[in-house]
Order: sequence, then C-alpha cells, then structure tokens
Amino acid sequence: MANPEFYRFPDSFRWGCATAAYQVEGGAREGGRGPSIWDTFSHKPGTTYNGETGDVADDHYHRYREDIQLLSDLGAKIYRLSISWPRIFPEGTGKPNQAGVDFYLRVLDELRAKNIEPFCTLFHWDLPQALQDRYKGWQSRETAKAFADYAGYIAGRLSNRVRNFFTMNEFSSFIDLGYRDGKFAPGLKLDPAELNQTRHNAVLAHGLAVQAIRANTRSGTKVGLAENYIIGTPIIESEEHIKASVLATRVLNAPYLTVIMEGQYLEQYLQQQGAAAPKFTPEDLKIISAPLDLLGINVYNPTYIRADSGPAQFAVVPLPSSYPHMASPWLNIGPEGLYWGVRHPAEIWNVKDIYVTENGCSSADTVAPDGNVYDADRVMFLRNYLINLHRAASEGFPVHGYFVWSLMDNFEWADGYNLRFGIYYVDYKTQRRIPKMSAHFYKEVIRRNSVV
Ligand code: NOJ
Repeated sequence: MANPEFYRFPDSFRWGCATAAYQVEGGAREGGRGPSIWDTFSHKPGTTYNGETGDVADDHYHRYREDIQLLSDLGAKIYRLSISWPRIFPEGTGKPNQAGVDFYLRVLDELRAKNIEPFCTLFHWDLPQALQDRYKGWQSRETAKAFADYAGYIAGRLSNRVRNFFTMNEFSSFIDLGYRDGKFAPGLKLDPAELNQTRHNAVLAHGLAVQAIRANTRSGTKVGLAENYIIGTPIIESEEHIKASVLATRVLNAPYLTVIMEGQYLEQYLQQQGAAAPKFTPEDLKIISAPLDLLGINVYNPTYIRADSGPAQFAVVPLPSSYPHMASPWLNIGPEGLYWGVRHPAEIWNVKDIYVTENGCSSADTVAPDGNVYDADRVMFLRNYLINLHRAASEGFPVHGYFVWSLMDNFEWADGYNLRFGIYYVDYKTQRRIPKMSAHFYKEVIRRNSVV
C-alpha cells in the first residue's frame, strides 16, 4: 500500500482517462463517416482476434453521454479523446462532413457541462481508406499534406471548445506495426528504404499539422503529440547507467521523437540505415521540429539500459523469459518507466509541459458472482506506476496531468475484444459498463490527489 500523506500530488495536478475513436465509437457507417484503413483491415479474415472489428465497439457513438457520466463519477477533470478523420472528411480530403463535426461538438458540450477539459488527438490510426487507395497512405507526402488540411480545419472548428490538441498518437505503432510488420492496418511489409521514407512522411505530417493548427485556432491553444517513445530506463540508478540511458533514449527514438525535438536525424541513425536512410530537405527538418507546447507520453513497458564499453556506450538489457507481464504478452511491468519517461524529455530536450497521455494495462478480467470485477493486478500495476509518477512530480519535473488507458474496455486493435484495458468493464452483449476495482481505486486517487 502507499502512504497517502507521503504520495500527495501538487494541487494543480490533473487526473483523467483516455480513449480513441475507432476503439470505442462504433457507428462505423453512421453520420456520413467514410471507411478507414482499420475498417478494411479488420474485415479482412485473419487480421484480428476472432475476426473482430470496430463496427460497434463500445457503441460510444450513441452512448457518449453515459460514458461522460462515468468520467464524472470518477471525479476526472480531463479527458483525452481522438477525432475520427473519416468522420470529418469521409474521402480524406475535399468536402467536410457536417454530421461528423456535429457529433464531436455534442461530445464536447457534454464534457463542458460536466466540467471536464478535453484533450483532442487528431490522428489515432484511423486513416481514411480513400487516402490509402489514392496515395498508399503514409507512403506519400500527399497524405502528410492532407493531414495538415484536416488538422487545421477540425482544430479551427473545435477551437472554441478545445484548448489542447495532440497531432498524432504513437508513430512507431501505426508505422512500424502497420507498414513494416503487417500486424496493424494497412497490413504492409515494406522494405527498409520505403519504411524510413514512410516514417519521415509521418513526422513531416505532424510538423505540417502543428503549423495548420496554430494558424486556425485561438490564442492560448496548446499543441503537442502523444508518443510511446522508447524510455531508456537505467537498470541500476548509478551515474554510468543513467548516462547510458540518456544516450539510448536519443538514439533509440531517432526516427520519431528525437528528430521532432532536435530537428536532425542522428548521425548514428543515418549511418546505420545507409542506403535505406530517408530522403529529406533542411526545410522538412525545420517543419518537423516546430517547438511544441505539450508533450504527451504513453507509458507501458520498460526498456532497461546498461552502460557498455562498445562504440554506442549503451546496451539494451534483454529480459529473461521469467520477466513478469500483464495479460498482453508485450506488456512487461516496469513502473520506473513513468519516472524516467517524464525526466528524460525534461532533461534532454528541456520540455516544460508533460502529460502522461496513456498508462494502464490489460488484465484477464471476469465478472465475479457478486457482480464485481476484482482486477487486483491492475490496481497493483497502477499503484506502482503512480508512485513513480509521484517521484517525478515531487522532484520538480514538469508533469501536469495523467490519463489512464482506458476509461473502459474497448477494441484493442489486432487483439480485438480479447484484451481488456478499461477501468470500467464492458459487457459487449449488453453494452453495460461495470466499474472494476481499479475504477474505485482511481476514484480514491483522484479524490485524495494522492497514491492510495
Ligand atoms: C497505445 C495505443 O495508443 C492504444 O490505442 C492502445 O489501446 C494501448 N496502447 C494499449 O495497447
């Protein structure tokens, strides 16, 4: 247990939950929404667990009021949601779909009525299928331009209700898993040169979108991105391993966060990629590295680093097969990631405003005969990560808010509905939501502004 007196957060610290459009909304063919690459991919046999799709998901499209009430019941003050690009531009570009905009205006009004501040992610992987067909998706700079147009348009339309925007969510997930490993939409396995160019187009899209959002929103708007960057976590907190973890963090994130923060591709990365390195102009780098107001970090599994005498001066510590993980086999438990996840960007890149845009875990949740869900492992997971978040805040690192992933169970991409990340349990047959033990835990954390 944690001592709530010791683990209090600053009064200004903000607590909330996160979701993403394709994972919760459903209503896939409603309100004029166009198809996304995830509709196409999940409907293709063999791509997702049991052939599951986001067609209905949590039916949040119709139940958003009830879901916002859940947030309110927790005492959440912030909520991170994503906007579905194909709801706004069913064809990716061209004529906007008013019904799509109206849906989000209704959601935002409901949040305002409950005094919950929205943080909107503009791209959480549901690329309009039309852009995949027309341009091969992120393989083309045309998609980067289309993204900027969409981002500028929708940020402008929402600007009187939304102060905080994230351009994109988790580059490595939608690019590396989608265009290298074929595990996520669009299910491609590109060669290294094509892959690196696709990565470049995605970070360029982020930079172009930052400009477009700034140009179309009221003053005081904050822009950032939400990235599951590789958090080099020192295996032992001694000077040599900490130093190695800093080096590792810059190098391992070279194609994404490092180029965004530094405006350069590290020499090591370019050399290592050789002929497959991305092609870019100095102007691209300037756009990509536009200064940001916010950094969102998605924190899950650890990457432990040790000092090494080789040329890189660091090495990734391999995890033994006995290393503990949550229900998702990849979700190894590493609570210190939340501390280092905040500390590294503050120290390496002088980032001044950090939000934990996702943290949470999958658990083999079941409804007990008494109707409750006793997810003791999720409570354990959250408590340990939050203690590390408290450490970061109490040492003065600039972390100002935290979003649990996720408010409720939802479509876990290729894992379908098989893996549950919610603090509310969703009975997919009835769409009933049941607060898990972790929801009661989180509510108490929020109430006391402390790890309990
Ligand atoms: C990160 C992604 O942003 C989110 O969509 C996903 O559900 C969680 N990780 C859990 O895997």
